[in-house]
This record gives sequence, structure tokens and C-alpha cells, in this order.
Amino acid sequence: MTVTAEKSRELLARRNQFVPNAIGIFNPSTALSAKGSIIIDADGREMIDFAGGIGVVNAGHCPPPVVEAIQRQAETLIHCSFNVATYERYLQLAEKLVNLFPHGDHTKVMLTNSGAESVENAIKIARQATGRSAVICYGGAFHGRTLMAMTLTSKVGYKAGCGPFAPEVYRIPFPDSYRYGSGMDPDAFSDIHLRELEHFFHTTVSASQVAAIIIEPVQGEGGFNVVPKKYLQGLRKICDQQGILLILDEVQSGFGRTGKWAAYQHFDVVPDISTWAKSMGSGMPIGCVIGKASIMDACKPSTIGGTYPGNPVCCAAAIATLDYMEDIHINALGEKVGNIVRGRFLSMQKKYTAIGDVRGLGAMMAFELVKHQDPFQPDADLCKKLISYCAEQGLILINAGLQGNIIRVLSPLVIEEPLLQKGLDMIEAGLDFLTKQVV
Ligand SMILES: Cc1ncc(COP(=O)(O)O)c(C=O)c1O
Repeated sequence: MTVTAEKSRELLARRNQFVPNAIGIFNPSTALSAKGSIIIDADGREMIDFAGGIGVVNAGHCPPPVVEAIQRQAETLIHCSFNVATYERYLQLAEKLVNLFPHGDHTKVMLTNSGAESVENAIKIARQATGRSAVICYGGAFHGRTLMAMTLTSKVGYKAGCGPFAPEVYRIPFPDSYRYGSGMDPDAFSDIHLRELEHFFHTTVSASQVAAIIIEPVQGEGGFNVVPKKYLQGLRKICDQQGILLILDEVQSGFGRTGKWAAYQHFDVVPDISTWAKSMGSGMPIGCVIGKASIMDACKPSTIGGTYPGNPVCCAAAIATLDYMEDIHINALGEKVGNIVRGRFLSMQKKYTAIGDVRGLGAMMAFELVKHQDPFQPDADLCKKLISYCAEQGLILINAGLQGNIIRVLSPLVIEEPLLQKGLDMIEAGLDFLTKQVV
């Protein structure tokens, strides 16, 4: 990592001294303030933000109505705990979420502090509602870093030495068409994977013991792998037949990122339970679990909840964020940003053989760097160099994927087109510079 500026260097040195090394660092940049799609670093340098705080600021950094709502709420009620006293902000937000994401005739919402907490609670709810214990998750999945969430998470490097993990969690392969479905009809590829799941119920765990199957409609940390439509629809059918609850994790893919409020809306599938966080509160720590009322109400008293979930200030931020997203037509912005990024990535792929695959949904776009155009030869080194190159040029970029060889774009969706193009130009210049050096 090359950081030339003095204050940034000092911050990174203090980080080294006072903060555990294990806390991940995707990028060598620093931050003093941010607005829209620009971060001002500790030395006053303007950086274009293609990371969006890891998909948290779809509505941009510090949107004025959200800042105002936080300020106003902080003057009235910062905390009292929803377990202690009922306040309206929680209810306003729950009602808004139910209207945006109905999971059937009657839907209920519990608020949480984070994505991982949403996932933990979704599993507790599914187990109580079904009276079953097993949970099925996927290769390449990322669901967070608390015990159940980390158990469900796939990337081995994220869990080294943290076990023993939670029992009764079973992992099956994600239908990864780039690696395993090349040249195949996507529907036929889906059918193979669905049949494998049916087989799994005989070889590994009986369907009658499975409480839930949890899947990201577009894998985030796993590298923006989009689940094939026929597969997700088939999964819905199998869950219905077997009394298994389908949990869709929308923590990274939700709130306009894919050009719709929910990524699952692209698939004509409605989950039994869904998990949310990230862009819901424009950076304030808030998430939620949404589910069919009959499922949510199957939980025994006090088995879900906590001191902070649905904190009034976070609720105010989330309500203002959702209102603002409606006002600025966030889904149309997601679609527009996605089209621009996809177009540019596809043309880069034609120029640079290092790009093995371009994929994603809406503005959740990525490209995968490989050697010799082989999906099984990831080029994490080139990816790392490209991120450093871009940081030096003034672009904050992050990777993804089990082997860290995927460049993903999670820029704010409010990014102005010239700024977006400028960031994409930097990526292209980096590829140009680095691939010529490498070859
Ligand atoms: C799909 C998904 N689920 C869960 C999480 C965990 O969220 P958090 O970091 O807020 O705990 C993430 C975070 O990246 C995620 O992408």
C-alpha cells in the first residue's frame, strides 16, 4: 500500500498501534468527511467513492434530509429501548418496510443493529416457527461475523481459528455458472443443481429436519454471483413442498442497488423471511428481519430483541433515507449506474484478457481477474495492485470473492455520470498500466 500524504500515513500508523490487525482493510485510503459520492481524505484530497462504505450509502454520503432527521431526533429522544417503552419512530419504519416488502397477506418486521444480527435472528425465528434445527447455506455465501452468521459464511479465510461453529448448518454449492456452467443453458444448469439438492436430502440431511435455506439473491462478498432465476424459483417450490422456510439475505443487494427495492423482485419469488441492513440507514447502524406474520409470531416471548435495536435516531435516519430514496427514484438511478458500469466493464473485457468475467445485477457490478482466461486461476495480485493504483489516482475501490480477485462497484447510486465515468477511466488506466507491466 502506498500512501504518500502525511496525515493519512499518521492515521494508518496509529491504526496499527491501537487497533487489532485482524480488522479487515480493503483500501489504503483515509476519510475526514464525505458528501454524495466524494470522500475527502485526511489530507484534504478528493476521492471518488466506488465502495460506498461496502454498499451502505446507496443514497449517497450524508444526504441532507437524513442528516436533518438525525439531528432533530437526537434533540428529542436518543434512546429508551423498544423493550421498555413503545415509540412511534419504530412503528413508522416498520410500517414503511412492510409496505415496501410485503411477504404475503400479513407481514411483520423486527429491527436490528446490523446485517449479522438480522441473520442471527432470522435463523432463530425460522427454527422456532418450524420446530426444526437444520439450516442449509451456500458455498461463497457471506452472512456476517457473529457465531451463527460466521458459521453460515463460506470464506475459509474469514473464519480461521474461530470455531467450533454452530451445529446443524449444512453447505451446498452455489450454482456458479462462470466456473461450472460455461456454455450451458442456464435453465438446464439450474435443473442440475435443484436435482442435487433433492439428492442432498437423502445423502446428508432429511428435508423434514430443515428449518430454512438461506441464500443471497446476488452473492456480495462471494463476488457478485447472481443466482439463476430458474434456480431460485425452483428453490421456492422445494421449500413449499418440504415445509422449509426460504430466507433471502438482501443486506448488500437491497434498497435500489440492483435497480429494484429488493433483488428478489427480479426473480418473481417472495421469501418467507428476509434480512436487511447496510443502505437502509445511510450508515447508521440499523437492519431488520421481515417475515410472514405467522412465522414472526411463532417466536416465544423475549427470544428476540435487545437493548438497542430500532434505536430512535437510527429509525429516524432510516425513515428519512427511504423517503429520500423514493423522492430521487433510487431504483431508476440503480438501473442507470448499472447500465453504465456494465457497458464499460464489457468493453474493458474486450481489451484486457485478464478480465475473465463481467457479471452482476443492476448497479451491483463486478469483474473477475484471472490468469490465462482460466476461471480456476484467480489473479488476486493484479486485483490488489489495481486497488492501490486507483487509490493513488483518487478512486476508492474494493475487491470481493473467495480469492480476492474480483473488483466490485458499490458506488453511491446518486453518483453524477461524469464522476462515474472518471472513476471507470481510472480503472481502465490501471488495467492498461498494470497488464502491460505484468505481460
Ligand atoms: C449479504 C450480507 N449479509 C450479511 C452481512 C453482514 O452485515 P454486517 O456487516 O452489517 O453485520 C453482509 C455484510 O457485508 C452481507 O453482505
